[in-house]
Amino acid sequence: MKKLELKISYTEYESESELSSIDQELLQKAREASDLAYAPYSNFYVGAALLLENGVVVSGNNQENVAYPSGLCAERVAIYAAGAQYPNVAIKTIAVTCKSKSFHVDEPLSPCGACRQAMSEYEMMHHSVIRTILAGETGKIRVMDSIADLLPFMFKAEQLKKA
Ligand code: THU
Repeated sequence: MKKLELKISYTEYESESELSSIDQELLQKAREASDLAYAPYSNFYVGAALLLENGVVVSGNNQENVAYPSGLCAERVAIYAAGAQYPNVAIKTIAVTCKSKSFHVDEPLSPCGACRQAMSEYEMMHHSVIRTILAGETGKIRVMDSIADLLPFMFKAEQLKKA
């Protein structure tokens, strides 16, 4: 028996102004997407903007439903839209942000597990790491260089083949 340790890494920025202008622009697109979210049940508005290798930006936001589980998170709305429209183009960066009607979000959004798995699929599919920029309304910004830093033990296609 042995106890192992796993190292993940991320970069923390004190504020948005420390980001490169390209990252700031992508985060701004995510903020604009969050404004258009359909979130009447949670009042929690999430926006995601993906920068593709070909320079195109694809956005998405959370889409809720009165049958709660039928709704979908912003990250998956955006990533599936990119997969549907640009199936062969790798995703370079995904910026995700959120705001609430009930309180002020002063820390970076932390994507749900299902979205991490979905993002990981596209990273593996394109053999190309995806950077993730996570922000709240204000406060620190977190940047991961790979989805593997967000979801180290993701379920991989090889595991399915060996089964
Ligand atoms: N939500 C997202 O869109 N992304 C996340 O990473 C976490 C949660 C949405 C789902 C739901 O519409 C609302 O936020 C509250 O959970």
